[in-house]
Parts: sequence; structure tokens; C-alpha cells
Amino acid sequence: MTFISHIVCAYLFVLLAQQVYSVPTVDGSEDLLDALLKRIETLEASDAENKANIAKMEEEFKMKQSESEKEISMLKQRMKKMESDFKLQEEMLLKKIKDQTLMSLDSISDITENESVGDDIVDQAPSVKDHIQQRRSIIRKDRSIPEMETAFYATHTVHATHHLGVNQVLPFELAITNVGNAYNIHTSTFVAPVPGTYVFHATVMGIDEQGGDPHMRAYFDVDGTAYSVFYVTSYDQSSQMLVINLTAGQTVSVKNDYSDEGFIGTHHSSFSGFLLYQHSSMNAVVGK
Ligand SMILES: *[C@@H]1O[C@H](CO)[C@@H](O)[C@H](O)[C@H]1NC(C)=O
Ligand SMILES: *[C@@H]1O[C@H](CO)[C@@H](O)[C@H](O)[C@H]1NC(C)=O
Repeated sequence: MTFISHIVCAYLFVLLAQQVYSVPTVDGSEDLLDALLKRIETLEASDAENKANIAKMEEEFKMKQSESEKEISMLKQRMKKMESDFKLQEEMLLKKIKDQTLMSLDSISDITENESVGDDIVDQAPSVKDHIQQRRSIIRKDRSIPEMETAFYATHTVHATHHLGVNQVLPFELAITNVGNAYNIHTSTFVAPVPGTYVFHATVMGIDEQGGDPHMRAYFDVDGTAYSVFYVTSYDQSSQMLVINLTAGQTVSVKNDYSDEGFIGTHHSSFSGFLLYQHSSMNAVVGK
């Protein structure tokens, strides 16, 4: 082949290749660029739209947030007010209960005398009700025990009494006071009429016993048990007080301790006593 024929062959080959692979022409490239630009424009537009949407959402969120915050602070304020209202009401109620309790206690005597008095208070304050009913029952119980009046004061009319034996009862045969007659002038002995707390007092004046012991000794005797010993010298006085729980029937007297002793009477010596508190019989058993 010649050089020319080579050139022709190459040209033909190029033409053929162009036909087979459709290599784009200059016009085709412009179309593609347009398409790309269009696409980019579309994308940019949708991006802007998205951004706008996000901004809008953000704004909405912020608004909602501030609304919620407002609502929360309002709720907090309402709670505070409710709390302070509650406290105020509580204080008022407590004061009312206290006042009513005091009023109820003030009218306890009325309540006992007349059952219907005080019931309005009781109905208004149920917490006071139990208390008042308890008080009522205590008062009724106390009233159901007939109050025992017991008090005595006795002395010895003989000026000088000698030769007393050991454990002999000192005679106080003149009862100036004997309310309830629980003191027996014949035996110079007190007999407890009811269970209770009793108070006794005795004063003994000593005498000059010729040849005997210059001291006289006496004591309170409660059913054979010695309490509160008196140690008495001549023409001197000795006193003792005895406060003691007794059951009904227990006896109290003043007894001599040393043999062949004496004492001075005629209002220089005395024996007295009274009931301080009466106990219900149940308590007396417990206190025994
Ligand atoms: C008890 O008190 C009420 C109210 O004050 C009165 O109406 C009633 O007559 C009283 N009853 C007696 C027995 O005093
Ligand atoms: C005396 O009796 C009272 C009332 O029952 C009781 O409270 C007290 O404990 C008693 N005291 C003695 C010392 O027994």
C-alpha cells in the first residue's frame, strides 16, 4: 500500500468509529450542561426551602417553649398561693380547735349539770368530742362515789397520865371535831371509812417521871406497824405528821413505846387527822 492509501484508511476508520460510538458533538455537550445547571438550580431552590422550613420550625418551637415556660411559672404561682391558703386555713382550724377545747373545758361544769349544754361545741369539733366524753365519764365516776367527809381532832382531858404499858394506846378521849365519826373516842383509834390518802398529826408533851426514864417514846401505829416515832423529854413537846394510803377498815392510833411512861394532856397533847383524797376501791386494791 501507498502512504495515501494509509491516510484514507485512517479517515474511514475515524468515520466508522464516530458512527459506531456516537461520540457527542459540540451541540450535544451544551444540552448536558443545561441539564446540569437546571438540576443545580432546582437543588438550590429546595435547599432554600428546607432552610426556610427549619427556621420556621425553630421559631415555632421557641414560641411553644416560651409558652410552656409561662404556663409553668403560672402553675408554680398557683401552687404557692394554694400552699399559703392551705397554711392559713390550717392555722385557722388549729386556732378554732384550740379555742373550742378551752371553751369546752371551761364549760365542763355546765356539761355535767346539763347534758345538752356543750353538745354544739362537741358536734363542731369531733377531735374535742372524745376528750369531753372522757372528762364527762371521769366526772360522773367521781360523782358516783359519795364524798366521804372525814376529819377529827382529839385531846386528853387528864393533866398527867402515868404508868403507860408498852404498845398501850395513848388516850385522846375528848373529840373536839369528829366529822364522819371515824374516830373512836373509847379506843382513841381512827378507823378508815373508805380507801384513800389520809393525813394524821399528833403532838405529845413529856412529863417528869420520878425515878423512871426521863424520855418518853411514842409512835403512830397503823394496823400493828409503827410509823413516825416521837421522842419526848420532860415538859417538852414532840410532833409528827403521817400521810398514808389506807384501805377501808385500817386503824390508826398513837401508842406508847417504853414501859411505865406518861405524858401531859389538857390540850398540851393532841391527835388529829383527815381524809385528803378518796380513792375508788379499784385504786385501793392496786395501792395495797
Ligand atoms: C339544758 O340546757 C338547754 C340549753 O341551754 C336548755 O334548753 C334546757 O332547758 C336545759 N335543761 C335543764 C334540765 O336544765
Ligand atoms: C396511794 O394511792 C394513790 C391513789 O391510788 C396511788 O397513786 C399512790 O401510788 C399510792 N401511794 C402509795 C405509797 O401506795
